[in-house]
Amino acid sequence: MRIIQSILIVSFVFVLIFPIGKTETEDVVEALVDFMQKLGPGSMQNTPNWGWNTTSDPCIAIWHGVICDNTNQIVKNIVLEQISLSGTVDFESVCKETSILLLNLKYNNLTGSLPQQISYCKRLRLLYLNGNHFSGDLPGSLSGLTDLVRIDISNNELSGELPDVSRNTRLLVFLAQNNHFTGQLPDFNYHQLEDFDVSNNDLSGRIPDDTGSFGAKSFAGNPRLCGKVLSKPCP
Ligand SMILES: *[C@@H]1O[C@H](CO)[C@@H](O)[C@H](O)[C@H]1NC(C)=O
Ligand SMILES: *[C@@H]1O[C@H](CO)[C@@H](O)[C@H](O)[C@H]1NC(C)=O
Repeated sequence: MRIIQSILIVSFVFVLIFPIGKTETEDVVEALVDFMQKLGPGSMQNTPNWGWNTTSDPCIAIWHGVICDNTNQIVKNIVLEQISLSGTVDFESVCKETSILLLNLKYNNLTGSLPQQISYCKRLRLLYLNGNHFSGDLPGSLSGLTDLVRIDISNNELSGELPDVSRNTRLLVFLAQNNHFTGQLPDFNYHQLEDFDVSNNDLSGRIPDDTGSFGAKSFAGNPRLCGKVLSKPCP
């Protein structure tokens, strides 16, 4: 009994004195490398400190576009903006690091749809996918991302209905202009939003009378929308 106690105390003290520097686990590193491999060649992949390989750690080698949490040394932000990436985004792989806060893939040449697995990034606050060729419906799981603050999916080829954002209570920015969205507007908290645009889609139905500071410009280019904001009475 004495011996076991001593071992426990010694191990406890050891852990206190030598905290184990956490790095990304092997399976997260492999998943991130898989995610990148599906993104086509891009314009930066031959730069010397590109990283994104299984023989280096994203936070120690500081992979291109990766920002890590200082304390825990896990990937927090991924910024791969305007570097001619093509191919499809393997959200299941990139979201293997479940604590990603920012995913910025804007202005590339990405295709494919946004799958339910996007919600595996359960801490996601900022999602920038604008200026690509994403298509298909948005996953319903987006509404489960309750930390989401800014989402920009504008300038793609997305279709189907806009997501129900009623559970995304922290949402400040919703930009979905220049897509092919259809159906009615979900209930947005217009007074909380700082930036909002759903123009140039194929939305239909009534726009609420009170849309805060957002005027016709945010709704224009949807011939089947009606309401005071567009000076177009609903039938
Ligand atoms: C992996 O990436 C690191 C960091 O950029 C680099 O130093 C190393 O040479 C790369 N290894 C391979 C096998 O490409
Ligand atoms: C985007 O992808 C399309 C189809 O693969 C290709 O024709 C086009 O050149 C690409 N554009 C850029 C800017 O890479």
